[in-house]
Amino acid sequence: MSEPLLPGAPHLAYQGAVLCMEGHALTELARSHGTPLFVYSKAAMLHALSAYQRGFAGRNAQICYAMKANSSLALLQVFAQAGCGFDIVSGGELQRAQMVGADMQKVIFSGVGKTRSEMHQALAAGIGCFNVESESELTVLNQVAQACGKQAPVSVRVNPNVDAQTHPYISTGLKDNKFGIAHEQALATYQHAAGLSNLRIVGIDCHIGSQITQTGPYLDAMDRVLDLVDAIEAAGIALAHIDFGGGLGIQYQQEVPPQADALWSTLLSKLDARGYGRRKLLIEPGRSLVGNAGVCVTEVLYLKPGDEKNFCIVDAAMNDLPRPAMYQAFHAIAPVHLAQNNSADGVIYDVVGPVCESGDWLGRDRTLAVQPGDLLAVCSAGAYCMSMASNYNTRGRAAEVLVDGSHARLIRARELMADQVQGERLLD
Ligand code: LLP
Repeated sequence: MSEPLLPGAPHLAYQGAVLCMEGHALTELARSHGTPLFVYSKAAMLHALSAYQRGFAGRNAQICYAMKANSSLALLQVFAQAGCGFDIVSGGELQRAQMVGADMQKVIFSGVGKTRSEMHQALAAGIGCFNVESESELTVLNQVAQACGKQAPVSVRVNPNVDAQTHPYISTGLKDNKFGIAHEQALATYQHAAGLSNLRIVGIDCHIGSQITQTGPYLDAMDRVLDLVDAIEAAGIALAHIDFGGGLGIQYQQEVPPQADALWSTLLSKLDARGYGRRKLLIEPGRSLVGNAGVCVTEVLYLKPGDEKNFCIVDAAMNDLPRPAMYQAFHAIAPVHLAQNNSADGVIYDVVGPVCESGDWLGRDRTLAVQPGDLLAVCSAGAYCMSMASNYNTRGRAAEVLVDGSHARLIRARELMADQVQGERLLD
């Protein structure tokens, strides 16, 4: 087996001329299931998880997978069976956690806009914690809990006003973001919460952004949060857990984010130094657990040479892989079958999909030696691709396969037209 394509994705590598996921030829999987096709590696997911588990060895820590990164049920099963809890942001995600038999005590509910009905649903399910993001949400949660005769476990999400140094759309810990309660107001919010009879304060949390590739912002956020823990506990309010959110980046291209175990070794040293090393810790990683465990296999439909640009038109599009259109994100794109003739000259293409938008591109200025009918793999497609996929242009969602050792299982059938129009009604 040759070197993996991306050091961050060790389970994706060429065997001979063919790109394989955990030894399964992507050509074969595409033949069996069609394209576009998402292929995930269970071993890659568990490998990513194990870095966190190593980092937390001997500590009282709970990993709550942020399922918004990829909420396909089979992937959730893998994490539930590995002992993870879940970070959810909607009633729908709560139901997904229930469908895979998650331990509800390990489920935490984040998000700025929880509805009364979602709160009700989560209280009935007995989740471990509501991460509350505003004073008005605290008031409503207290009312809903009172109406169902329960005490809601709460943590306040604080906004530490730290720059995560990432794309502005996925930065969440700055003052001008909609997330969390400002650092200066946090103590008062806790004092207010402590006076509400149907709330039980269990923790504090923060989340500063996503695709963070440096340790510095985490260290800053930790200091800011621990300052608050000092102040809140000095005011007589105990915090059983501290939740440091998710956000650790993955390698898409040249970036070298810290490994989860190295990051946590640094962060735990700070926690120890500040006397919180034995406190129960929660984290909410999403992308770093699944991002590099998946690829999207797509077929080249047409090559369209032009004066200014050459286009390589493929059958996957922005509805399957929205990240380039939304954040100008880079995903490596590699041939699934290396050209027989290694001297075949590459041509510089923009790799684009069939959707009727100029924003429908998957990669720009990529050198490829391809012909119509060839397959390409869009790499690092395990996170925020299928979970953000849409039906734009009445395109059905792609199929998904999970590779697990010698097995390759279809975990989501390609969406049919009948699925898409199921809830629609023709006029009489
Ligand atoms: N916790 C909270 C409260 C979050 O808002 C998020 C992500 C996470 C945890 C997980 O963060 P992660 O470990 O995955 O970075 N669609 C964007 C990313 C949006 C992230 C939203 N929040 C993208 O494709 O880059």
